[in-house]
Amino acid sequence: MARQSAAPRSVSSGSKPSASGRSASSRSASHRGTSTRNTSAGGTGATSSASTASASGAKPKRANTKTPAATAAAPARRRRASAARAAGTGAGTAASTAPPQFSLTTADPGKVKADALIVGLHTGAEEHAGAVLPFEPEPQSPWAQVQRAAELAGISGALGEVATVPGTDLVAADRLVLVGLGEIYRLDAERVRKAAGNAARAVAGLGEVATTLSAIDLAATVEGLALGGYVFAGYKQPSKPPVRSVKLLVPSADKAAKEVLRRAVVTAEAVLLARDLINTPPNDLPPAAFAERAAQAGAAAGLTVEVLDEKALQQKGFGGILAVGAGSARPPRLLRLSYRPARPAAKIALVGKGVTYDSGGLSLKPMPGMVEMTSDMSGAAAVVAATIGAAALGLPVAVTATVPLAENLPSGSAYRPADVITHYAGKGKQGKTSHILNTDAEGRIILADAIVRAAEDNPDYLLETATLTGAQVVALGNRTMGVMGTDELRDRVAELARQTGEGGWAMPMPEELREGLQSYLADIQNVGAGREGGMLTAAHYLAAFVPDELPWAHLDVAGPAFHPGAPYGYTTKGGTGVPVRTLLATMEDLADA
Ligand code: BES
Ligand code: MN
Ligand code: ZN
Repeated sequence: MARQSAAPRSVSSGSKPSASGRSASSRSASHRGTSTRNTSAGGTGATSSASTASASGAKPKRANTKTPAATAAAPARRRRASAARAAGTGAGTAASTAPPQFSLTTADPGKVKADALIVGLHTGAEEHAGAVLPFEPEPQSPWAQVQRAAELAGISGALGEVATVPGTDLVAADRLVLVGLGEIYRLDAERVRKAAGNAARAVAGLGEVATTLSAIDLAATVEGLALGGYVFAGYKQPSKPPVRSVKLLVPSADKAAKEVLRRAVVTAEAVLLARDLINTPPNDLPPAAFAERAAQAGAAAGLTVEVLDEKALQQKGFGGILAVGAGSARPPRLLRLSYRPARPAAKIALVGKGVTYDSGGLSLKPMPGMVEMTSDMSGAAAVVAATIGAAALGLPVAVTATVPLAENLPSGSAYRPADVITHYAGKGKQGKTSHILNTDAEGRIILADAIVRAAEDNPDYLLETATLTGAQVVALGNRTMGVMGTDELRDRVAELARQTGEGGWAMPMPEELREGLQSYLADIQNVGAGREGGMLTAAHYLAAFVPDELPWAHLDVAGPAFHPGAPYGYTTKGGTGVPVRTLLATMEDLADA
């Protein structure tokens, strides 16, 4: 076994646990109403409203208002990301569980005291099958005995396996959690992330654990543990809360390792913010409440916030957003969040579909699929989280998220199949008209308005994401997003989606499908002639609103954004947070371009 020669030492990253150990919910109390930079929509006048953190008057959901004493020790950006997620739990709803506190240590894993030690096992290398990574299984080593314990527990090292055995006589930790990493030759960051996610649920309810997975891939381990252990605790207490703290065993706890840890924590926090928003049920997250929570989270992260209410939308001519929102008693909004670093290398526009509930409207959906439409604001959640994440990471790109929010319901005031609506065009311009043939193709209608608004800022790139079509799920399944747009950016985003482990594939936009959108009555109609290639037709509709020459990518995440089944890897039940990590990776990539 490869002994760690350096003297054991620990460094902490992130804030220490509060007295209660659940720092996110307690932090929300201390930030609410104090750290808001409320930038009221410049030039939007009296008809627009800007949300403020203090306006909600929200109380923390769970009675814990202690200010964590150690928060000041947290690096500023990490603190901002956490505060942003905590701020997002306002509006009287949905506090969620905080990720664990992570610390780095170079201690000998066999000697670390903890409630559990998580180690990875792999299959594949003939004589070393089942070996504990990243240590060589020398016959004399205590790890050879761990390997024997794994055999007895029936663990071969296959990806997805988890077993807990007593630590007695094997390691100083009370328990040993054995997780499968799969084939040694195929080991990559995504497999470590998945194994860490599986381990996170096995150690739920424990106080402090340690792991050697971090010696294989530190960032993947942190992301996997934070995401896989997530439980949404807005409406009931979890039977077993996520583990409170994790000691990450690493060969060297140097500056570089600390930076890797910080970035992984910020990335995971962004994904968790998106999950919290998606998992909040639609009765508690109408457009105004979504805007409010995003505005609070954005303000806590130091972003500029603007929210247009229905009067402002009317005055400015956002005919698409108003039409889709017309059937609901809870009116639509347009949210804008901006992050401006000192010397941006590029200007990026993000747009995300925010249908807080999609019943289909008068073109009512059949029942089985309707419940999942609580997640039809996943694109909106992802771009809000990615903008906050970009700020927390300090990415050298200027980012503005433009987020149309509406609830699609049938009623006496709802828009109809047969209506013609006029989209947003900007002051003094004539907007394009859409002939509505199906009120369930509502995402593209609100996105059209938002894309035109986003393009007014003259961005260098446009990244737009939506739970747009059931056809995406038919074509690519539940774990691979469809990526469309201009060739180069589309291919880059699809590649980065695969690299992050979120999964993506570039899809074409065949010309003949555009013809199906021609309307006898308006500039365009909102559904094609047939059902074939529905994901691609939807992309054509959006393309009609994107300026020529602007590189853009459209990420259809209808399947990947929401996971209705049992947890696996680092994917938990409900909102997944896809494509937050792809958006962050793309923005980072565009900053270097
Ligand atoms: N929100 C749905 C798409 C969706 C379906 C997301 C399944 C997640 C899972 C979207 O608004 C919708 O209803 N699209 C229609 C478009 C059709 C009417 C052209 C669809 O895909 O059926
Ligand atoms: Mn729909
Ligand atoms: Zn929809």
